[in-house]
Amino acid sequence: MSISCQKKDKIFHLQTPNTSYVMGVLDNKHLLHLYYGKRIDEYCCILDNFPISGESAFSPIDIPEHFMSTNMLPMEYPCYGSADFRSPAFHAEYEDGSSVTCFEYESYKIFSGKKKLPGLPATYVEEDSEADTLEITLCDHLTGIRVVLSYTVFNHIDAIAKSVQVKNEGAQTVTVKSALSSTVHLFDKNYEFVHLEGAWARERSIQKRPLLNGVMQIDSKRVSSSHHHSPFIALARPYATETQGDVYGFSFVYSGNHIEQVEVNEFDVARVQVGINPFGFGWQLIPGETFQTPEVILTYSDEGFGKMSRTYHKLYRTRLVRGKYREEERPVLINNWEATYMDFNEEKIMKIAEKAQSVGIDLMVLDDGWFGKRNSDNCSLGDWVVDRNKLPNGIESLATKVNELGMQFGLWFEPEMISEDSDLYRKYPDWCVHIDGRKRIPARQQLTLDLTKEEVRDYIVEAVCSVLKSAPISYVKWDYNRNVTEIGSKSLPPERQQEFAHRYVLGVYEVLERITSAFPEVLFEGCSGGGGRFDAGMLYYYPQYWTSDNTDGVERLSIQHGTSMVMPASTMGAHVSAVPNHQVGRNTPLLFRGHVAMAGQFGYELDLNTLSEEEIDLVKEQLAQYKDIRNVIQKGEMYRLASPFEGRNTSWEYVYEDRVVLIYYTICARSTLGKTCIKLCGLDEHATYVETTSGKEYRGSYLMNVGLYFEDKKDYDSFLLVFKKQ
Ligand code: GLA
Repeated sequence: MSISCQKKDKIFHLQTPNTSYVMGVLDNKHLLHLYYGKRIDEYCCILDNFPISGESAFSPIDIPEHFMSTNMLPMEYPCYGSADFRSPAFHAEYEDGSSVTCFEYESYKIFSGKKKLPGLPATYVEEDSEADTLEITLCDHLTGIRVVLSYTVFNHIDAIAKSVQVKNEGAQTVTVKSALSSTVHLFDKNYEFVHLEGAWARERSIQKRPLLNGVMQIDSKRVSSSHHHSPFIALARPYATETQGDVYGFSFVYSGNHIEQVEVNEFDVARVQVGINPFGFGWQLIPGETFQTPEVILTYSDEGFGKMSRTYHKLYRTRLVRGKYREEERPVLINNWEATYMDFNEEKIMKIAEKAQSVGIDLMVLDDGWFGKRNSDNCSLGDWVVDRNKLPNGIESLATKVNELGMQFGLWFEPEMISEDSDLYRKYPDWCVHIDGRKRIPARQQLTLDLTKEEVRDYIVEAVCSVLKSAPISYVKWDYNRNVTEIGSKSLPPERQQEFAHRYVLGVYEVLERITSAFPEVLFEGCSGGGGRFDAGMLYYYPQYWTSDNTDGVERLSIQHGTSMVMPASTMGAHVSAVPNHQVGRNTPLLFRGHVAMAGQFGYELDLNTLSEEEIDLVKEQLAQYKDIRNVIQKGEMYRLASPFEGRNTSWEYVYEDRVVLIYYTICARSTLGKTCIKLCGLDEHATYVETTSGKEYRGSYLMNVGLYFEDKKDYDSFLLVFKKQ
């Protein structure tokens, strides 16, 4: 059992293979967070060796027996209104207008396995023996509000899943203004706040800044996890690197408004919190109702960022992604978007497919523009009926013809959206998110459907399913190309309007669950103008995600490097596109673009008919090489050996069973500076590794300590080496 409760002092000790998380109950019934970090055998005492001392002047001494103030305590689930003046995890308004809550420890329960979170994505176990769960109940006796804090400890992965259930067991209606999923305390402030910032076509750049006293925060108020701030932070020692130093990771399994913040108080204690953004949030709980928060996945690594990422990769690849494509190798696809945009017909698509089939591509994806009268992005979203002008024989005929080539067929949808110029809008003008009397602000000339409405959700399920039933479609690209404005819904009474943002996200999850479970054979790829909303919540429904609309090889190095902080390679859609690149105009060699895309779910996004014979030969080689190494990249342990954020080159390594793939990219050549040394990681020191092209043999200890030297001779140069362990 990875969870123990020492009854005398009420100390809860959670142990993963290499980490410990400890809480304790003070004699006044406050639940405290006492430790998170490297695994310890035992935590002995609460007060004799307490990490905080000193007088909290101007803070009431509300625990006179120990001359303490709650304001100096590491409260495990802090609530608003007590003597703790820092950011609470819980804040509610009661019928008399007051908003003071005071949680006291009540009981606990430990069991094997992990419960599902109703209506929410979450990590899971297949056998109860994979994890243990602790539930601790706190109670506010005056109002009858109880919170059940849940901690699932994975037995073979250094991860803890935390979530909270708020139960109204009192007699009055309560409005929950904030119910965060996790609070953790670190007992000094010598950390950097690390997060993934971005924008459209520039997703997930790694940002680091030192913690200072006060609040440091990232968030989203877009009803989407967004391109701008991924729902993830790490707290890392300033000296932490890819291979050493303490790093704490917090990854939120949620796709809507989120907040990740650290508050450092006057004692230099850092309170780290993650949850649904309290901004604009309010949730009414009538007596007997419960509110479930999404979960946060915590991990601690004493071997730098690399180990933190590998923990997330393993957990998300094996116990968050579901369905047949979790294990099965995914098809290599070709997508027509950058080849034709919306200007296509059946003949053009078939020509692209035929050429793709001749080089060994498995799946032809038809992107935006196949429905309604969609020749530009100003119309037809919502009208999921084929445009017979472009495809006179319909989707079924096109899909069948593609199948006859020996390829699978895939289709693009953007089901959460509606164009003002659409039959759907003409019929149901009030199905979009809007506030009566206010302008409906379009973005990319479209509005968002109101997924808090049951009839809208049913429409989406019916519309998408009927297309999927009508033709042999093996793959769906599910896009989402704007963020929500004019928030509110007539489906909700005035006192529940602040529930909209979370209810929208629950609506998306419901629709995705219904559609993906009705078509378990179909491979779903998520997308939101590239990698907006590419979060852990979405991976529960889509095993892969279009990482960015930016397909330039150089830009992609940073985007994929940043994304890999949390997301495994098996989830990152990555395509070779044409040059000059459509987003940044850069010319890079096909070899380089191929090597960049091979570090994810490989595909092409161009018309192969425009390539020369030599280029087509190279495409054939790329496909053969990718198919040979893809299980190493998809299932292997990833090591980031050189970062595009720090230098002129990038290098990634993947280790799976007896094979190793090393990719080295020169972004920018340099002169007279010697060579770049790349030391491999994760090998067996005493084993011999053969580099498969040259037949050269190396000992693991040589590759890891002496390393291999690369010359940065040419811009956009790249090497992919495969080693086999003897
Ligand atoms: C978004 C996607 C692109 C493409 C277009 C189609 O921008 O990210 O890949 O599908 O929509 O409109």
